[in-house]
Amino acid sequence: SSVRCHATLSDTYSVEAAELADIDWDSLGFGFLPTDYMYTMKCPKGGNFSNGELQRFGNIELSPSAGILNYGQGLFEGLKAYRKEDGHILLFRPEENALRMRLGAERMCMPSPTVEQFVEAVQATVLANKRWVPPFGKGSLYIRPLLMGSGAVLGLAPAPEYTFLIYVSPVGNYFKEGIAPIHLIVEHELHRATPGGTGGVKTIGNYAAVLKAQSAAKLKGYSDVLYLDCVHKKYLEEVSSCNIFVVKGNTISTPAIKGTILPGITRKSIIDVARKEGFQVEERLVAVDELLEADEVFVTGTAVVLSPVGSITYLGKRVSYGNEGVGGVSQELYSVLTRLQMGLIEDTLNWTVE
Ligand code: COI
Repeated sequence: SSVRCHATLSDTYSVEAAELADIDWDSLGFGFLPTDYMYTMKCPKGGNFSNGELQRFGNIELSPSAGILNYGQGLFEGLKAYRKEDGHILLFRPEENALRMRLGAERMCMPSPTVEQFVEAVQATVLANKRWVPPFGKGSLYIRPLLMGSGAVLGLAPAPEYTFLIYVSPVGNYFKEGIAPIHLIVEHELHRATPGGTGGVKTIGNYAAVLKAQSAAKLKGYSDVLYLDCVHKKYLEEVSSCNIFVVKGNTISTPAIKGTILPGITRKSIIDVARKEGFQVEERLVAVDELLEADEVFVTGTAVVLSPVGSITYLGKRVSYGNEGVGGVSQELYSVLTRLQMGLIEDTLNWTVE
């Protein structure tokens, strides 16, 4: 690879091997564990991204006046690497993340790495940290690319310099429920996104904005919050960190992408998988009332993968699905998707990259 590396793997192995040995791969949650290397690449004023390099994982230095710190000019991505049964490592649809970052960068007035640069950087970072990819069937290596305005600004303007950075962490299940169904509450007051806003891109501020409702919901014992559209307050949008699907008979419906909903790569993949499995999939406005009639509800995301929803509380009324157990459709789609991601079934769509 053309990627430069600032430390040898052998020195890292001796320093941190004990930590790796301490990991209980069976009880990994979705928490941050520092790994060996991170990747950084800079784009100077008026220039292009170039000279990316691997460095030992550690803190970064930013001007207090950096665009990201003052005006939130930043994006992130999330993707995963899975260990195959034969020990090889698979990435799932990394070009999709690269393309989504490019679209988001355009919205946030930032330059972005090319698709090739992005994918090469992800591959280099995963390879440098390959000992942190969990064993087959025990989770995955979560890859977190960041794009930030790292140059100094004071007046409101795009930053003069940008940094692309990738770090990784081994992860297991996102929700503390594990693969058991989660419990959602519909939020009436606060909204995640507005038409014309930035809800459709992965900008960091979208995620800070949902913490308040999420914290309140967790205090009441719910797993997370389901947002409604801010205009009519009657159509489903998404959960704080994932997209939502509603199953009725053989039809699976999900809110259409219209600027306020994050275009999830898992969402898109599940739509294709479900169609291949013979379901009718509709991307449209999905009214909150449809939750009352649904047979099953599930959420999807890179971190979440696919999680069944056991109940949704709406206007004080709790609606349960399938006795709050794992529904058959959720189970089937989860199984096909994860077997594809782990290389257990033939990847006819070329979604995985070894
Ligand atoms: C992901 O699913 O990868 C995300 O970026 C959501 C994040 C809140 C964990």
